[in-house]
Amino acid sequence: MKHVFGLAALAAGLAIAPAQAATVSLFCSSAGAEYEMCKTAADAWAKETGNEVKINKMPAAWDEALPLYQQLLSAQSPDADVLLLDVVWIGLLQNHLLDLNEELSKEDIAAHFPSTVEAGTVNGKFVALPWYVDAGLMFYRKDLLEKYGKPVPKTWAELTETAKVIQDGERAAGAKDMWGYAWQGRSYEGLTCDAIEWIGSYNGGTIVDTSGNITIDNPQAAEALKMAAGWVDTISPPGVLNYDEEASRSTFETGNAAFLRNWSYVWGTSQGEGQPLVGKVGVTNLPVGTPEGKSSGCMGTAHLGVSKYSANKEAAVSLVKYMGGVAEQKRRAIEGAYNPTISALYEDADVLKAIPFLKDAQTAFADSASRPSAITGSSYNRVSQAFYTAVHGVLAGEAEADAALKGLAGELETIKQRGKW
Ligand code: GLC
Repeated sequence: MKHVFGLAALAAGLAIAPAQAATVSLFCSSAGAEYEMCKTAADAWAKETGNEVKINKMPAAWDEALPLYQQLLSAQSPDADVLLLDVVWIGLLQNHLLDLNEELSKEDIAAHFPSTVEAGTVNGKFVALPWYVDAGLMFYRKDLLEKYGKPVPKTWAELTETAKVIQDGERAAGAKDMWGYAWQGRSYEGLTCDAIEWIGSYNGGTIVDTSGNITIDNPQAAEALKMAAGWVDTISPPGVLNYDEEASRSTFETGNAAFLRNWSYVWGTSQGEGQPLVGKVGVTNLPVGTPEGKSSGCMGTAHLGVSKYSANKEAAVSLVKYMGGVAEQKRRAIEGAYNPTISALYEDADVLKAIPFLKDAQTAFADSASRPSAITGSSYNRVSQAFYTAVHGVLAGEAEADAALKGLAGELETIKQRGKW
């Protein structure tokens, strides 16, 4: 990972910065158009304030960045100033982050959806400014649904059937690489999201409930996993077991999948000027498992935080304010389909025009499934790893769903005893 983050270069940058202007380090994601968008904002802030920004590029799969964050923060390194934070890391990193209650005005904070502010607050400290809100969504080929006379699927069973019809039809017509459904099946945090969505939509809970009880060993959860395992090599390519967001996006955007589960940024990438799927894509909430189940998009809000050990706190806070502020959130919504966390932007005509599914996405946010990061705190990573490893085993046909979930529940008990949640 060294080559990605270039910390030596970062330290050198700090050393040569002029006395009055600060060089602030910032982590930007590399998924989709994210890096460019992040860089443009950083450059604009630098120009406006006379400071400099040193950008560290995060891998597209964010969980690969977490060990580096942990290393930098536990060493109290002054080389990490502004951190892009996955909502599930906030509990884990809270002690290393500045309380932004003391840095931002009450009005600035209250402009964000209360649920996102709550997610950024731990023990009364507001450590993570909401940046964009996300929940798992279903992208589909409007043109292909029309061609095969199929409605937008409401249940996973309908999706499975429609995906197969389209796949078979398109292959028969010569599109040999066509698949029905692309999603994220690699053994990583993204699979925790996909699987919590399937399980939630079958009323199978969220692995650990909000009181801390381990709930994962239940028949609905097993049923959901069996369904997903049945997709591999039928409506989804065998390679789905190694897909992350970007790999699955690529299958869809090259025209090789009828459906895609992903985050809203795919609207921005697939509908960008000159893209082959412009006008052919629809976006909707994820299907339900049973008619009484609810659509359960995984909550994936992104936040921005400032390290307590930053040598440039004032400038770092200023950059966070700029990046999370209304003008920049509006630009990101329009240019990249990142859903704002500032509620007023949901009434903004330009934003509504750029993200036509924003109202649907709002329902997805309201019904979203949260991973159990708040209740499991510093153990969350271990919980999630145990979960996605077990799920991956079921998807790969190495284990039966019921037995895997029973084993997982035992493993989680051990983690719980050690982590004392
Ligand atoms: C997205 C989400 C994040 C999630 C990750 C999984 O980046 O915003 O919450 O953990 O995907 O790959």
